[in-house]
Amino acid sequence: MGSLLIRNGTVVTATDHYQADVFIEGETVSMIGAQLDVNADREIDADGCYLFPGGIDAHTHMELPFMGTHASDTFETGTLAGLHGGTTTIIDFAIQTQGKSIQSAIEEWHKKADGHAVGDYAFHCAVTDFNNDTRKEVPAVINEHGINSFKIFMAYKGALMIDDRQMYELMQELVVHGGIMTAHTENGDMVDSNIQKNLEAGNTEPRYHVLSRPAICEAEAAGRAIDLANETGCPFYIVHATCEETLARVKTATLRNQKVHVETCIQYLLLDDSYYFKDGFEGAKVVMSPPLRKKKDQQALWAGINQNLIHHVATDHCPFCMDQKAMGKDNFSKIPNGAPGIENRFELLYSEGVAKGRIGLNKFVEMSSTGAAKIFGLFPRKGTIAVGSDADIIIFDPKTQHTISADTHHMNVDYNAYEGWEVQGKTRTTILRGTIAVDNGEALVGEGFGKYLKRPPFNSLA
Ligand code: URP
Ligand code: ZN
Ligand code: ZN
Repeated sequence: MGSLLIRNGTVVTATDHYQADVFIEGETVSMIGAQLDVNADREIDADGCYLFPGGIDAHTHMELPFMGTHASDTFETGTLAGLHGGTTTIIDFAIQTQGKSIQSAIEEWHKKADGHAVGDYAFHCAVTDFNNDTRKEVPAVINEHGINSFKIFMAYKGALMIDDRQMYELMQELVVHGGIMTAHTENGDMVDSNIQKNLEAGNTEPRYHVLSRPAICEAEAAGRAIDLANETGCPFYIVHATCEETLARVKTATLRNQKVHVETCIQYLLLDDSYYFKDGFEGAKVVMSPPLRKKKDQQALWAGINQNLIHHVATDHCPFCMDQKAMGKDNFSKIPNGAPGIENRFELLYSEGVAKGRIGLNKFVEMSSTGAAKIFGLFPRKGTIAVGSDADIIIFDPKTQHTISADTHHMNVDYNAYEGWEVQGKTRTTILRGTIAVDNGEALVGEGFGKYLKRPPFNSLA
């Protein structure tokens, strides 16, 4: 592998913003400076463009077996779509099957990803059955498999949900071994009760998905998990927070000096619950859990980003084609939960965030890359542009406009929830570990280019 010089771009990190040349040798950045006097095997002129650290999406579900079907993107198609949009690294969830070991889930996820992913990847480990056997697996998950983040589902009873005792004891175990707990916070019993009542009343359309999962279902569970994390001293991260009520629980926790890490997803910032009330089966496209919320919640999330209450904007990328969504044609509770987003997150966050004046450039980088890298132990290898870091660099043209469409996207799914949206700014070139992976829409790397990223035990001072 040779060297690459990117000239005249504007380097943007979570803290800085300056014009410089970036010299890459092999897979890493080796020099940054004004008008560097070096010879490179290849030069790129990035005049007028931003150089952003490669996007990190810390919440994806490639090929997830779920609700009687599978998420439609493989590690190959999903990570390649990410590279097109500006995301170079994902953290996917290896999800334990109840009754089986955690180790078997990790092996299963490696089989899906190793030799197939085009972008770099790491795993979180979702524990769906915490008992005396799985308890013994925790140290090896962290120290041998390089997975420091665990996940619990407080909803999806009978498939993924664990009870409060399991959550509490897993947190205690993670404190001992250096793990961070992440949680899908919805009160699964409340949700199931609401679903049953709606179905008994003959309410079968997609809109009853959101009507069965009000914000309090999420906020109550978030508050409960935050309290248990505080009691046990366990580092804690809420995945896909959607609403003002959840952020209120986070704010309360900060008053007692607890640090709560919070992720939201791009769809919760940009789409609202009116989508469920569209004609016909359209609402199925955004049946996901937790559901889309109200405009006031979007405002609370944007404010939460600027108040440093939110640390990462992910996607929860979990696509299903419309024939899969049709499994719930006559029963909203059978619509596979999840939606696509990996390809659009980075550009939409720039367009709706930076270009529309809701967030600054440094905040954009923090939300799309640095925040997740720091929390999950990838920083400074990933998440910044610095000497010694992996040369994961997005050459981003803020002047180019484009329109989102399922006809042109690269995700393996036959709709796009943002169909027709005009986007300001575009990923021109994606560089992953010093290699030009995508250039002007053309993929230059393929299946198996992605590397698995082992991560060290959780470090609260990162
Ligand atoms: O609806 C969703 N979010 N599907 C994926 C699984 C999860 O809850 O994250
Ligand atoms: Zn979830
Ligand atoms: Zn998810």
